[in-house]
Amino acid sequence: MLKLCAAFLLLLLALCGAAWAADSYDGCKVYDINTRSVFEKELLLRLSQNADLDFFILPRSLDAASRVMVQPQDQQGFEQLLQKFDVDYVVVNEDLGVSLRQEQLENQSQRLMAQRSASRAISFTAFHRHAEINAYLDELAAAYPSRVSVQVAGKSYENRDIKTITISNGDGRSGKSVIFLDAGIHAREWIAHAGALYVIHQLVDNFAANSALLKNYDWVILPVVNPDGYEYSHTSNRMWRKTRKPVSSACYGTDGNRNFDYHWGEVGTSSDSCADTFKGETAFSEPETRLVRDLLLSLRSRGKFYLTLHSFGNYLLFPYGWTSALPVSWRDIDDVAQAGAAAIRAATGTKYTVGSSTNALYAAAGGSDDYAFAVADFPISITMELPAGGTGFNPTTAQILPYVQETWVGIKAMAQKVVDKY
Ligand code: ARG
Ligand code: ZN
Repeated sequence: MLKLCAAFLLLLLALCGAAWAADSYDGCKVYDINTRSVFEKELLLRLSQNADLDFFILPRSLDAASRVMVQPQDQQGFEQLLQKFDVDYVVVNEDLGVSLRQEQLENQSQRLMAQRSASRAISFTAFHRHAEINAYLDELAAAYPSRVSVQVAGKSYENRDIKTITISNGDGRSGKSVIFLDAGIHAREWIAHAGALYVIHQLVDNFAANSALLKNYDWVILPVVNPDGYEYSHTSNRMWRKTRKPVSSACYGTDGNRNFDYHWGEVGTSSDSCADTFKGETAFSEPETRLVRDLLLSLRSRGKFYLTLHSFGNYLLFPYGWTSALPVSWRDIDDVAQAGAAAIRAATGTKYTVGSSTNALYAAAGGSDDYAFAVADFPISITMELPAGGTGFNPTTAQILPYVQETWVGIKAMAQKVVDKY
């Protein structure tokens, strides 16, 4: 059976051409696949090694669906392969290109509507551009000077201002412990950026209800780690994940979450500059990851909780991402993550999987979470993978608000746990 499978994999690999550099997704289909046996899961795991198949949701536990985008020229071979092995699949999107254009129009009109009606530069009815997000941070600093300050932490490769917002309760006490939250190291994961903005909104605009989280703690929030990639995913290629610094003549960008200098370049990373998980030419080759590094190191000892938002897959992941071994203190981190998962489950019924990155998802070295934990000494370090929505990569604009509200329930519960304990 496995031999046969290998033969089909070879066939499939032959069908797929060179690494795909599309910025049109015309004709691409999205499949949801339910694996019902260990064999089927193994088959999908092997397929996910193929760079031409873009797994939006990777195969994990047996009864969870995987989601994969397949290019037109590979669809026939792909479907034949699944049918051959009697794998259960549904096409959830017949033409991703068409739906991405629809989504873009919808987002555009929602942005314009929000601009006309709202008092703030952003809303939770649209995915906003980097300039709007930065304007929002500045608005808050101007409106609440005693509780909010905004810093330009550095510049992206394309010279955009990367801003952090520091939120306190305004009591003037300095040197408090810190919760550091970031989002958007991966450009296309737009719901993550929105999630960070909602946390900022809650802590600042809704301060009274959340003041317990700011009594002995300051929050530092970096809502857009990778603004070049984020803008590029708005203007040119919706599925862009990496930074935008050119690497070779053929390919741009490094996977920021493979670029941190802790077991850099080991398992789960690529040396191919065209790959989506390219580790970079050196550790910290990217200005954006150096900036996160410097922030993390500057918070060493004060920093108690590092939370980094991604999408998607409903995971709360903790170190390590480079080995299946667990840190000695894993139970402390697991406690915090479980509190988040339980709160979300109780609020909306949404299920999150909790575990170490390697054990619950896959091994991938050089992530920011491992670095924060192992090098910058944050005792609690968690990657939160928000849920999928729609039939492509992102939730629809109508889903933004319910999703970020749900996410906030989880973050609040985790932060409460940290604040009580550390
Ligand atoms: N989906 C994330 C990524 O691939 C998960 C990161 C988990 N953390 C880790 N250190 N591997 O970047
Ligand atoms: Zn990500």
